[in-house]
Amino acid sequence: MSKHQISRRSALKLFGAATATLAMGGVVPITACSTHKGEKLSKKRLVFFFTGTGNSLYVAKSLVADGGTALSIPQLLKEKDLNFEADEIGLVYPKYREIPEIVKEFLTRAQFKCDYFFGVITYGRHLRNDAQTLVDAMKEKKVKVAYVNGVKMADNRLQRFDMAQELKENDPAKIDAAIAAIVKDVDARKQFVITPDGEAPAHRPHAREHNFVGADEMFEITDACIGCSICEYVCPRGCYSVENDHAKAQGMCEQCLACAQACPQLAIAPTEGDANPKARYRNPNVSLREIERANSQMKL
Ligand SMILES: Cc1cc2nc3c(=O)[nH]c(=O)nc-3n(C[C@H](O)[C@H](O)[C@H](O)COP(=O)(O)O)c2cc1C
Ligand code: SF4
Ligand code: SF4
Repeated sequence: MSKHQISRRSALKLFGAATATLAMGGVVPITACSTHKGEKLSKKRLVFFFTGTGNSLYVAKSLVADGGTALSIPQLLKEKDLNFEADEIGLVYPKYREIPEIVKEFLTRAQFKCDYFFGVITYGRHLRNDAQTLVDAMKEKKVKVAYVNGVKMADNRLQRFDMAQELKENDPAKIDAAIAAIVKDVDARKQFVITPDGEAPAHRPHAREHNFVGADEMFEITDACIGCSICEYVCPRGCYSVENDHAKAQGMCEQCLACAQACPQLAIAPTEGDANPKARYRNPNVSLREIERANSQMKL
């Protein structure tokens, strides 16, 4: 270990993560489980989620707090059989201009059978017509979407927004009230699709068909890196490797920013710019360990 290096455990502690993992009452299993295979789950509600910085995970946890199971999409994608049957099935994900690539991949492979299908999209600025995008995507799978709503939360695009400011500007009580209202709607199996809050972005003829970027183009890893491996564990695409106490990023990057936001050394610098290189974000109700368990492509 070099003199700058601290152990992974110390890094987790420094970043305030170690405390939170087991401290939550009624923690939901957030990794893939095999119980979905074959039979109808005894739990009536299944919620599939993807998260980079915990906003969507917090919403998913809230939706199953009184029963049900939240399952992480990056973990489920490791499985062959993605046939799900439950009374109620929900999807929770962050808006990345539209549906994140990893969620699209899941939707392409998975089959759903349920009485009530719902979606919740977390976003930082505008939802626009994203609810309808989900309805249309599910129509192709012959699934009727009964309910889609959005929750405005801290915008985690650190290239554009100062994370310290985002934390200040997003009132936790307001967010909790919005989530509680959605949970109530879903419990009552309400039929509702939120209307666009503004124009859909104009069609860009040269837009890429996907939103992947090379992880090496997306980030520079600075000398502040101590090789703690947290980036390796939070990346849902397995883009990181640590050698000689220094992290390296390569491969298809989802742009979720989990790595840059979680690095305890602030050593992952987005090449596109950094609104406040000293401020990073994780949803206050979610531990680093939960994000690792949701996203890790490594053995935990
Ligand atoms: C690549 C990327 C693209 C995003 N695009 C939008 C957007 O177009 N509109 C918006 O309101 N928020 C956008 N956001 C903000 C996220 O949707 C928002 O912060 C979300 O709650 C993050 O959820 P998470 O913590 O579960 O990852 C984007 C975030 C990322 C990382
Ligand atoms: S870049 Fe990765 S390995 Fe290096 S300090 Fe940050 S999280 Fe740890
Ligand atoms: S490299 Fe970072 S931003 Fe890209 S997928 Fe991995 S964790 Fe997300």
